[in-house]
Amino acid sequence: MDIKVITRDIIKVKAGAIIVNCFEGRKRLAGDIAAADQALDGVISRLIRQGDIKGKPNEITLIHSLGKLPTPRVVVSGLGKPKELSTNKVRGAIAETCRWLRNRGIDDIATVAQGAGINGITLENSAQAVTEGAILGLYSFRRYLTKKENDHTEIKRLTIAGSRKEKPLLEKGCERGKVLAEAANLARDMVNEPANYMTPAQMAEAAVELANTYNLEVKVLEREQMAEMGMGALLGVAQGSQQPPKFIVLNYKGNDSGEIGLAMVGKGITFDSGGISIKPSEGMSEMKGDMAGGAAVMAAMSAIARLKLGVNVTAIIPATENLPGGSALKPGDVLKAMNGKTIEVLNTDAEGRLILADALSYARNLGAKSIIDVATLTGACMVALGKICSGAFTNNQKLTDKIIAAGTEAGELIWQLPMYDDYREFIKSDVADIKNIGNRYGGAITAAKFLAEFVEDTPWVHLDIAGTSQSDKERGYLVKGASGVPVRTLINYVISITK
Ligand code: BES
Ligand code: MN
Ligand code: ZN
Repeated sequence: MDIKVITRDIIKVKAGAIIVNCFEGRKRLAGDIAAADQALDGVISRLIRQGDIKGKPNEITLIHSLGKLPTPRVVVSGLGKPKELSTNKVRGAIAETCRWLRNRGIDDIATVAQGAGINGITLENSAQAVTEGAILGLYSFRRYLTKKENDHTEIKRLTIAGSRKEKPLLEKGCERGKVLAEAANLARDMVNEPANYMTPAQMAEAAVELANTYNLEVKVLEREQMAEMGMGALLGVAQGSQQPPKFIVLNYKGNDSGEIGLAMVGKGITFDSGGISIKPSEGMSEMKGDMAGGAAVMAAMSAIARLKLGVNVTAIIPATENLPGGSALKPGDVLKAMNGKTIEVLNTDAEGRLILADALSYARNLGAKSIIDVATLTGACMVALGKICSGAFTNNQKLTDKIIAAGTEAGELIWQLPMYDDYREFIKSDVADIKNIGNRYGGAITAAKFLAEFVEDTPWVHLDIAGTSQSDKERGYLVKGASGVPVRTLINYVISITK
């Protein structure tokens, strides 16, 4: 899809459809919708009076222009009450409208800077939201469908119309929107990829490709090097699989300070069967997405490089399968992590924290100023928060506040859960320094407490995306399957620390 900004009055644009916005509870039409209404001899205001158009969020009304305008179709898209408007609502509405038009075979769309000027939404942020919403909402994963074109239109062009004065700001927002949304879609592609096409080796290949494209430094550690470095926890998980594990490190240089401003660690379990503590077969296929954290930090790196942000950032992805092979890790086994701590493995399905133990130790050894880890870590987090927000866990409130704010801006909601000392006792072991499971309750927190053992005093936030990494239905700019969460949060956070 080609997205660009033009300087023209929206009602003069020739496209398959133009989209104008209607707000709930507004008596008088103003701006673009008023101009469209006038050109259509008052049809829109009549439909509003009749109650056919209410301006509710995501309401879509198609009006045929019957030769009164250069475009054959005017779509009135509801944005809800102006007081409740946010860039995230704009993202959702444009996504729904674009899909609706695509389903009707329309491939050329024009619109305006939706919601700009309302509730503090700037022209730039509006253009960014429109661009992001369209790219994210029109995403589909079709790589393994053999009959491609016949049943599917792709939207070829989206035009954002504005005045000459507005154009530079609109273009800036549009460019940024493209970078963020394309990064999120890159993560989605990786997560949607079946596990037989996204093995640890293929994940490492994807990292090398990213490095080549965006001029990043890349390093892939093999089993032997991991052993030399003492990554016993990661190797323990990997030993049940025929696929060799990969420890992937990507570096972006944004300044000459020599200091790593941020290390982003992402869980890269390319398939989680549970290992010997095997999962029930129902829903197990979803576990091809257990590398969503790794995909997210990789994808965020692409955007950080494209935006040339002035921070040094390192992404670390421990990648392996978790399978119950003949040499697999067994319940009761004891592993030694890179920082020397011993771990009693009581459930081989709590493998994420094991591979993260070594990756977090590695990040800490690098001397990173702060660490964010992203992981589809616990079903318990999904039980607590549903599929609406990711869980945050931390040893540093300031860092967490910034990340939650970056998430809110992205529309990727995050809710913080507690880390009271009292939870620590549940991971005490009789035979090793710690064990890899707690008791029945508070499983998302005990998992985070386990991770905290490996970051020690480095400012750190853990994001549990078990519930948010995949969507079970179309919703706003989300489609069924991988969501791309929290790629845009990570990028926004890095942008925020460069300001
Ligand atoms: N990858 C899973 C967590 C998960 C569950 C992600 C559902 C997405 C959707 C993780 O490795 C896991 O199996 N966790 C266990 C931990 C338990 C054994 C302590 C869980 O949550 O059941
Ligand atoms: Mn597991
Ligand atoms: Zn897992």
